[in-house]
Amino acid sequence: MKGVILAGGKGSRLAPLTKIFNKHLLPVGPYPMIYWSLFKLKEAGILDVMVISQAEQIPLFQKLLEGDQELGMNIVYQVQPEASGISDGLSYAKPFVEGEKFVLMLGDNVFEDSLSPFVDAFQRQESGAKVLLKEVTDPKRFGIAEIDAVHQRIVSIEEKPEHPRSSYCVTGIYFYDQEVFQYIEKISPSDRGELEITDVNNLYISNSQLTYDMLKGWWIDAGTHESLHQASTKMFETMKKKEGYE
Ligand code: G1P
Repeated sequence: MKGVILAGGKGSRLAPLTKIFNKHLLPVGPYPMIYWSLFKLKEAGILDVMVISQAEQIPLFQKLLEGDQELGMNIVYQVQPEASGISDGLSYAKPFVEGEKFVLMLGDNVFEDSLSPFVDAFQRQESGAKVLLKEVTDPKRFGIAEIDAVHQRIVSIEEKPEHPRSSYCVTGIYFYDQEVFQYIEKISPSDRGELEITDVNNLYISNSQLTYDMLKGWWIDAGTHESLHQASTKMFETMKKKEGYE
């Protein structure tokens, strides 16, 4: 399986830190943020990865990651001309993942769980897509899934709902088959002018092709000042527990 990391966007909620700096290069614990997605992919045995960002940002990622001999991953870089949404960004990965199932990660999602069990489960899934959910206290910030727990299925997903129907956030860790590229062609820009991944996921739901799992450990979308700080704290705590990091 291959991996795609979206590392573009305006990072407007992190201004002025993001005035001249890409969000995914900001520090989370001792590493630039993008490393955490790469480590999770590597741990799950996914070594072929595409990093997608805007043209002026790509040389920064190349300088950082191509200089890192220890990482031991095959990373390619792809330009998304404008920050026009997750589905738009993903559309540029089509030639890279041709003919395969793959995992898509938003580079600002930092979390504790290993991806391995979810990768294995999706390998066994014949077709369709899988999303990973996490219960949150601030559901208006995210894509929120309404769940039919009896039948273990997602009924619908609403992006940044005014009146959330649950507290289950659809995290930025997605598994797709090739159908995703057809669905992206069918959707239109949202009110915020972006091609939303939620619209694509709802198309999978209407074809009964979306499965889900729950993350057990902590999960943070590090896209705000407070959550960026929280992500750093959590990472240091986790590293201290695991490796005796001082
Ligand atoms: C994006 C998705 C949203 C998802 C979130 C997870 O939100 O649109 O559905 O819950 O990532 O991090 P955004 O960061 O674009 O506001």
